[in-house]
Amino acid sequence: MKKIRLIAALALLVPGAAMAWPWSTDMMDQISIKPQHGPMGVRPFPEHSVPIPSTKTSMRIASMDEAENAKNPVPATPESIHNGQKLFEIICTPCHNYSGKGDGPVGMKLTLQPFDLTSDRVQHEVTEGHIFGYMTFGGAIMPSYANDLYPNERWDIVNFVRHGLLQYSQEWLKTHYSADKGHYDYTDKGGKQ
Ligand code: HEC
Repeated sequence: MKKIRLIAALALLVPGAAMAWPWSTDMMDQISIKPQHGPMGVRPFPEHSVPIPSTKTSMRIASMDEAENAKNPVPATPESIHNGQKLFEIICTPCHNYSGKGDGPVGMKLTLQPFDLTSDRVQHEVTEGHIFGYMTFGGAIMPSYANDLYPNERWDIVNFVRHGLLQYSQEWLKTHYSADKGHYDYTDKGGKQ
């Protein structure tokens, strides 16, 4: 019994000891240039460039409460909506689906089904900051995407959800949902059905 305990205790020490082995830094010593690493890492500013103030989108929103009342600093231009659509397709569709209704292939597996983003609630009742806040802080089940999306990208998605999703959803459903089969067709998105 004592021996087993000793082996268990030694096993616990192993990960710590691994850091001290001579090859533990091998992955760090690479030819790739590290951030701010010598003159190759920090590029000089191009000739005639002038400093500009940072964008308004970098305002800090520290909590869901603050997000609820935050004003969208990114105008809903066609470019912003288009960029929001591309990001929505990459990040949000697995759960919320291309339909926006929350019945994506991953969403269907969750204990709480993702909310319908085409609902009157999301389209008209909640603030734009609420949608931004969900992406920033996540929900009960929905993860936070603050590390994956810059704030201005999150506002682009807000602009798409509010100004593009309804039409996008209707068009997608027309071409990708078959009532007689009763399921969606994801073949052009790399899916099996
Ligand atoms: C891993 C699955 C998942 C992904 C990916 C996901 N969501 Fe969600 N989302 C959920 C779930 C589940 C809910 C239900 C509420 C909760 O979790 O608190 C939700 C709720 C929401 C709500 C709240 C709606 C309301 O009625 O208040 C918004 C807004 C939202 N999601 C937007 C997005 C956007 C935009 C993206 C892409 C950046 C996204 N979600 C990606 C799962 C996801």
